[in-house]
Amino acid sequence: MDCLVCHEQTGTYRKFPSGAGYPAPYVEDPANPGTQKGVPFPGESKSYFAPDWSRVAQSVARPSRMNCGTCHFYGGGGDAVKHGDLDSTMGRPPKTLDVHMGTRESGGQDFTCVRCHTTHSHHIAGRIYETPAAAERKSLLQDDLGDKILCESCHGTEPHQSGGMSDKINDHTDTVSCQACHIPEFARAQSTKMWWDWSKAGQLMDGKEVVMGPDGKSVFDRKKGEFRWEKNVVPEYYWFDGTLDHVTVADPIDPTAEVWLNRPQGSADDPNSRIMPFKVHRAMAPYDKVNKVMVIPHLFPFNKDDDTAYWKGYDWNRAIEVGMEKAGQPYSGEYGFVETTYVFPTTHMVAPKNEALPCEACHSRQSRLAGITEVYMPGRDTFAMVDAAGWVGVTGAMVAVIIHGLMRFVSGLRRKEE
Ligand code: HEC
Ligand code: HEC
Ligand code: HEC
Ligand code: HEC
Ligand code: HEC
Ligand code: HEC
Repeated sequence: MDCLVCHEQTGTYRKFPSGAGYPAPYVEDPANPGTQKGVPFPGESKSYFAPDWSRVAQSVARPSRMNCGTCHFYGGGGDAVKHGDLDSTMGRPPKTLDVHMGTRESGGQDFTCVRCHTTHSHHIAGRIYETPAAAERKSLLQDDLGDKILCESCHGTEPHQSGGMSDKINDHTDTVSCQACHIPEFARAQSTKMWWDWSKAGQLMDGKEVVMGPDGKSVFDRKKGEFRWEKNVVPEYYWFDGTLDHVTVADPIDPTAEVWLNRPQGSADDPNSRIMPFKVHRAMAPYDKVNKVMVIPHLFPFNKDDDTAYWKGYDWNRAIEVGMEKAGQPYSGEYGFVETTYVFPTTHMVAPKNEALPCEACHSRQSRLAGITEVYMPGRDTFAMVDAAGWVGVTGAMVAVIIHGLMRFVSGLRRKEE
């Protein structure tokens, strides 16, 4: 990566799509020959301005949210496509969208990304493939030079003031992730892509190459197929030890079932695992019917005459053949489409505290945690005796809170009287 993408602050150094991340080339403004002003790059459907290099050079600073966002808000081919919790609204979010990155005016903390993604000599904390974002859930009070990547780094494991209901909430933090209660829904400012059907690509829809949906995002694109976008999405919950298992192009798949391209690892009896919220993106994607592996199609043309590229020739077979050859993988010559899932941990867009999930969201028959069967949960599970005992716990906690509240109210009144 080049340095300026993370270190310049004019905002003119944007990703230039057909340049695969390089800035748009400098083109002289015909109206002002010899000036450094950027002009729209000719031949592009949208206007991409070449950066004004003198301004860029003078603006070098520590990375802002927009610097990281140039890539991470637009992953997957556009705004909010990949992540349900990282999109362009996170450049200047209100506190209601994200209590940490929210602007000061809206009452937020105005955190940059690297406030949590602690960076030492360009190693950005938070990588989550085979290694968890952080191995230990320790508070900075124990190690103030450590990474601040986890919620516990700053808040500790008992962030709820003690007494009454707070004690009950603190009891959860060894099984339920902070995110599970504090990010009740993701994609709260704009919709995110939840479904992508590649098998519909190549054709036209109602004679059109691109069809826009009600919220101004495409629901069909000849190049990519059919999409579904959703806003205010309730996450799916899985045990998570911080690592994800991935299917590579060499791993055999079972095309008769949904193929989990990545899967959260973790279990109820692992003390490092928590119940974590995920965005689960589903799709129909091409695979090799004979070798039973996922395939890598060649999408972008290498040059303007390259019609082996799917986005030029619209021929899956040739695109897969060239893509797999480039990747050094065998291809049988027969492809089909298989349903896939891809999970993204939901960890940004922490909502204000008064919007944390209410107890009933989990402790009821309609529990969000219906899929988490390994633990007993009062209110959700039907084991009558234990249920009653559980509810004694819940009711007890609620009564304690009410009494605590009343006592505070009364002592407040007394103080006023004095
Ligand atoms: C992926 C984004 C990214 C890229 C690309 C990048 N940096 Fe950084 N850089 C960072 C972050 C994050 C920090 C730490 C900022 C902080 O702690 O507030 C940093 C810090 C620095 C610092 C301050 C000293 C230090 O190490 O903390 C210098 C100097 C620097 N970068 C120079 C460069 C140069 C030169 C390049 C290109 C070779 C470059 N950076 C590329 C993200 C990036
Ligand atoms: C309040 C702290 C916090 C801030 C601020 C923050 N992050 Fe994160 N981020 C995390 C944590 C915690 C994880 C790891 C979650 C896990 O355990 O897997 C993470 C994970 C990620 C991941 C990988 C997982 C994923 O979501 O796919 C990316 C990419 C990422 N952050 C980018 C960003 C960017 C870009 C910004 C700034 C716009 C940002 N983060 C700001 C806490 C933060
Ligand atoms: C030029 C595009 C670009 C910029 C700018 C950028 N990133 Fe990334 N980032 C990537 C790509 C691509 C990956 C995946 C890399 C890989 O798999 O090795 C990644 C990976 C990550 C991950 C690990 C994700 C995971 O799922 O494990 C984190 C965390 C992250 N970036 C944070 C940041 C932060 C913080 C900044 C700003 C300082 C930043 N990135 C700037 C492109 C970018
Ligand atoms: C780098 C330190 C840091 C990290 C990491 C961090 N927080 Fe915070 N958080 C703060 C600060 C500072 C505040 C504002 C002061 C306060 O309310 O305690 C805050 C406030 C909050 C609030 C109260 C918001 C309100 O309504 O006023 C919640 C809830 C919260 N954080 C949850 C989380 C969760 C969940 C995570 C992990 C995804 C997390 N925090 C990670 C520093 C951090
Ligand atoms: C079982 C759900 C649940 C879990 C798990 C949970 N919280 Fe909370 N949290 C709440 C509720 C409900 C509130 C609001 C009531 C309160 O303030 O006690 C809250 C309030 C907060 C506040 C504001 C406290 C204040 O007094 O201003 C912070 C900060 C916070 N949580 C951080 C965290 C962190 C960090 C974790 C993980 C270690 C976490 N929470 C886990 C439900 C939860
Ligand atoms: C995100 C879902 C979720 C929310 C919200 C939630 N809980 Fe729980 N709760 C659980 C899970 C999961 C368990 C089982 C954990 C275990 O076995 O350690 C549990 C266990 C319990 C238990 C029995 C075990 C114990 O530790 O005493 C009680 C009582 C309880 N919760 C009360 C509450 C109350 C009160 C609230 C609201 C303040 C609440 N819960 C909110 C998920 C949730």
